[in-house]
Amino acid sequence: MVNIRIEGVIKRYGDNTALNGITLEVHDKEFMSLVGPSGCGKTTLLRIIAGLISPDEGDIYFDDNRVTEISPQDRNVGMVFQNYALYPHMSTYDNISFGLRLKRVSKDQVNRRVQEVSESLGISHLLNRKPKELSGGEQQRVALGRALARSPEVFLMDEPLSNLDAKLRVYMRAELKRIQKDLDITTVYVTHDQLEAMAMSDRMSVMNKGDIHQTDTPINIYDHPENLFVAGFIGSPPMNLFEGNITKKARRNVLDLSWYNLDLSTLPRHRQLDEFEGELMIGIRPDDITIDDVEGMFKAKVTLVQPLGATQFVHLSVGDKLITCNAPVDQRVKVGDDKFVRFDTRRIHLFNKKKESRIHE
Ligand SMILES: Nc1ncnc2c1ncn2[C@@H]1O[C@H](COP(=O)(O)OP(=O)(O)OP(=O)(O)O)[C@@H](O)[C@H]1O
Ligand SMILES: [Mg+2]
Repeated sequence: MVNIRIEGVIKRYGDNTALNGITLEVHDKEFMSLVGPSGCGKTTLLRIIAGLISPDEGDIYFDDNRVTEISPQDRNVGMVFQNYALYPHMSTYDNISFGLRLKRVSKDQVNRRVQEVSESLGISHLLNRKPKELSGGEQQRVALGRALARSPEVFLMDEPLSNLDAKLRVYMRAELKRIQKDLDITTVYVTHDQLEAMAMSDRMSVMNKGDIHQTDTPINIYDHPENLFVAGFIGSPPMNLFEGNITKKARRNVLDLSWYNLDLSTLPRHRQLDEFEGELMIGIRPDDITIDDVEGMFKAKVTLVQPLGATQFVHLSVGDKLITCNAPVDQRVKVGDDKFVRFDTRRIHLFNKKKESRIHE
């Protein structure tokens, strides 16, 4: 298996810089997601790893081998794309074995390999069917089979689940993850869906405008976003972000949010703030806010309630700001109610507004 190293990769299209100097290591056997908004460079980076596009600067290494100038065929990667177009006139068997037959492998070997792959994907009973006789999820698995049949050392996937309906997508996430772990194959997975990346990855890289903003485990990124972009991108609904000014009251650092003065002296990182000048951004996730009828930090008016089954998103307004919280579904709340709001102060995130970076604890 293979460790992938991306070093200082730059890719320009005319005046547009698609990748701004990307450095990233994907460990052997790791499931790494590239996640970020449309146009941030995910597909470009994946295609450079595959060898389908050459970088203007920088290098790609598979283990200690520099593969930057090696053709895709010789990199031994398996790829699945968003439009995983199977050959429509070919059976599942022929689709899966297509790449092997090109390699002039013996008939017996091809047969054995197709059986192995289709068993591990649970599609052995579909080998004689044509793509149009398969469901979306089955077609998806045939496309995976086609990519896996040649025993690639690296598995690259670009939004492979985006053509599936919501239910099948959730099921296939778990399936893909299981298959990847069974095969222990180094995988780079592109998605713009941060929930999908959270659910599947060992680690994920959050990209924006040709740069990587943070690479870490999903839980570390969720708990410790390094900057405002990551804080706003990861999490659904997004983290609430408010600006405020630090003032000193009786030698305590107080964050003036205009509708509430938040005493920061009890926060673990209040010491960092003694020297702080300028405006802060405070972030608090909907999960870390509670609402109550009798007590809390400040009052706000309910503007929208979205029931989700187990919980409900409650949107409130205070001053000209909107706050979203995730409340238990048994809590009675309706539009127009005035509720007390409380932030879990242990779960507050602070950012330097000008630099957009996290203020570390
Ligand atoms: N062949 C090309 N010629 C010119 N510009 C391109 C080309 N391919 C990509 N770009 C530009 O490079 C940037 C990155 O594109 P890329 O396809 O990598 O984004 P992405 O993150 O995969 O987006 P999406 O989530 O929409 O698929 C975009 O600004 C895009 O317009
Ligand atoms: Mg793309």
